[in-house]
Amino acid sequence: SIPTPINQQLYNYEVGSVQRKLLKEACEKLRNSTIDIPCIVGGKEIRTGDIQKQLICSDHNKVLATFHQANTQVLQEAIDNSLEAKLKWETLPFEARASVFLKTAELLNTKYRYEVMAATMLGQGKTVWQAEIDSTAESIDFLRFNPKYAEEIYSQQPPANSPGVWNRVEYRPLEGYVVAISPFNFTAIGANLPSSPALMGNVVLWKPASTAVLSNYIVFKAFREAGLPDGVIQFLPGSGRVIGDFLLDNKNFAGLHFTGSTGVFNGIYKRTADNLVKGLYRGYPRIVGETGGKDFHFLHNSGDVELFVNSTLRASFEYQGQKCSACSRAYVPQSLWPEIKEKLVSGVKQMKMGQSDDFSTFMSAVIDKNSFNNISSYIEHAKTSPDAEIIVGGKCDNSVGWFVEPTIIHCKDPHYKSMEEEIFGPVLSIYVYEDAKFEEALELCDTTSPYALTGSIFSTCKYAINTASHKLRNAAGNFYINDKCTGAVVGQQPFGGARASGTNDKAGSYLNLLRWVSARTIKENW
Ligand code: NAD
Ligand code: ALA
Repeated sequence: SIPTPINQQLYNYEVGSVQRKLLKEACEKLRNSTIDIPCIVGGKEIRTGDIQKQLICSDHNKVLATFHQANTQVLQEAIDNSLEAKLKWETLPFEARASVFLKTAELLNTKYRYEVMAATMLGQGKTVWQAEIDSTAESIDFLRFNPKYAEEIYSQQPPANSPGVWNRVEYRPLEGYVVAISPFNFTAIGANLPSSPALMGNVVLWKPASTAVLSNYIVFKAFREAGLPDGVIQFLPGSGRVIGDFLLDNKNFAGLHFTGSTGVFNGIYKRTADNLVKGLYRGYPRIVGETGGKDFHFLHNSGDVELFVNSTLRASFEYQGQKCSACSRAYVPQSLWPEIKEKLVSGVKQMKMGQSDDFSTFMSAVIDKNSFNNISSYIEHAKTSPDAEIIVGGKCDNSVGWFVEPTIIHCKDPHYKSMEEEIFGPVLSIYVYEDAKFEEALELCDTTSPYALTGSIFSTCKYAINTASHKLRNAAGNFYINDKCTGAVVGQQPFGGARASGTNDKAGSYLNLLRWVSARTIKENW
């Protein structure tokens, strides 16, 4: 049976350690080179000549990688080749498929550890700690835990048979191909989105995010080196719209594993629905989408102030607030506000911003120009709005990299736009409620934003915790009690949200893997 997984141990990169030296060397090597990345179809490297660049976001004059965008000819070849590859891949024993991904985990932990971390740090703007918990630890965890969950699924069989009858269920892959479209903010999601459908016997056409293309290419190299047969996962960088539209508009499209913004997912959902009613597809495609968030920390007046402040600073500003799970709104009782305000402001003032490969940096730059402009527009709006007051931060500087200061907005109106909309940057909005109106404030928290990804209640009162847990039962797919709302661990807290945050198919659990099989029941009479 599949080896029992345990969570990958974290390295600490302390001064003088071998790990620190190797990682610094890997960062330096990437800084001094520009990697050229092809499309890879059926194991063949294709350079279309339609080239885009991936920049270092904290030093945007430097090109980290160039990549060749897939065109429709490449995409058609990828579809044809995948369907061919599927004939053999789906007949392999599950253990043989699992072994590819378990070995990939080993390669990411050893041979590719520093390269994938350096690419995540420079390309996606992660500090050393954020890259460690993402590109190595979480990627490895997905690759080790998913085979165990898959094994559990395959072992589920009907418990009863009549005399002379043998009933069984076959967990077949979907009929056609699966499209995986991944976001920039987690290399681990890049590793998970194509590998989980492939583990269940599917073939996958993978479009990585352009701003994460280098780290994702390294993950793809690790898949291949671990023995992934050619054509089982195709690597297709390029324009989301061009690639998405082409791959969705095909009768062999059978499923989508998507993580990204709600707006893009809504467009994809509509396109597949339109195609479905036109009769294009053979069946109902499996659409799995993990999308945006407007995640919250809610403090009750019985809560531990230090715990709340430290958790909120980390959840809001680590990785520049660009985790889907990042805390971006908080509710604080009036009686504790003066103390909380002072501590938050003082905490923010101690945060060091800088290059992502400077190991003393706490926060680096946001991902790109569009993101910088979008976040800055919210900050500019707050500077002149009567409903908002910036209590710390507020400066944006794009001269070297896309730097946005950690910023806290005290919102007088609980429906002020920064309390409701996903900003996806280092901006925390806070609403101060009257202590006696705890339940009304919970109601506000539940109804203010359309999202429902993560959220936390901070309280030492069991009645308050119970009330919050009940009133906010649909407000967060991952709900925390006295902990920050980021940092779900594969194998411990299955991850995903509902409402505008997605289809809640819980990444890193058997629930997600079930979406990639189409069961056939067989009754055999003897
Ligand atoms: P994005 O939506 O801009 O892009 C995601 C992917 O979709 C990229 O690969 C992009 O190229 C592709 N894409 C863009 N337009 C497309 C189209 N028309 N058709 C098909 N594909 C298209 O998101 P992003 O900026 O990479 O990531 C940030 C977003 O992802 C945030 O909203 C965040 O909350 C969300 N996210 C959610 C989760 C979760 O688990 N719920 C996890 C990580 C990120
Ligand atoms: N798994 C990541 C977190 O919980 C998204 O922060």
